[in-house]
Amino acid sequence: MNKALRKAVIAGNWKMNKNRAEAKELIEALKPVVADAKCDVVICVPYTDLETAMAATKGSNIKVGAQNCHWAKSGAFTAEISADMLTEMGVEYVIIGHSERRQYFGESDITVNHRVRAALDAGLTVILCVGELLEQREQGITSEIVSMQTKVALGGVSAEELKRIIIAYEPVWAIGTGKTATADQANEVNHCIREVVAELYGKAAGDAITVQYGGSMNAANAEELLGKEDVDGGLIGGASLKAPDFAAIVAAASK
Ligand code: PGA
Repeated sequence: MNKALRKAVIAGNWKMNKNRAEAKELIEALKPVVADAKCDVVICVPYTDLETAMAATKGSNIKVGAQNCHWAKSGAFTAEISADMLTEMGVEYVIIGHSERRQYFGESDITVNHRVRAALDAGLTVILCVGELLEQREQGITSEIVSMQTKVALGGVSAEELKRIIIAYEPVWAIGTGKTATADQANEVNHCIREVVAELYGKAAGDAITVQYGGSMNAANAEELLGKEDVDGGLIGGASLKAPDFAAIVAAASK
């Protein structure tokens, strides 16, 4: 089974939550309960928590990511953070193109591509988010939207660099709403993303790429979602903020 070729990745997206003391507390609670994970475990924390997270996760199996990065190496980009600034701290992952960036901060497919490029150049592993709006699903254009987002984001990415890309399918209507895509809906779109990658890079690359699902994944629904052939992990928002909930998802991915 192709699924067996891919390592599942469970990544927490803390969004704009947790100050430094709270971050340390959550990581200390997480360390023992995810220590036996058979999947990769990542926490993507606010910039202000990165240093705390790097120190607290040292020697554990928890990897640290940021939630965005800029495409320039440095310069007059007030409030932005470059990919090199992240790698210099030891950060290994970065989320790019989250729907909240697209919805509230004018992120476009083109700027997502620029950020992906910069992150790869700096040596980061990218968690690239794609997903349709409710209206788009209702219009029946989910696969077109997600395919286009994927293709534009991967522009100029080599087959070798693709190994440092994880794609997270996150239907916008399912994020933070408590409305999860059904396991079949998630699997269908994840499969479509894999086909797009196969079309661009060949079947082996399509089979090898980790495609996560994200959007109200929680301790109760994780096992069913993660059991699907094309769902190789999850990007977890709300449920990543509580150690027992996140650990339950990691356990489901480790089965
Ligand atoms: P949620 O968020 O799990 O709270 O729906 C997922 C995400 O936005 O990555």
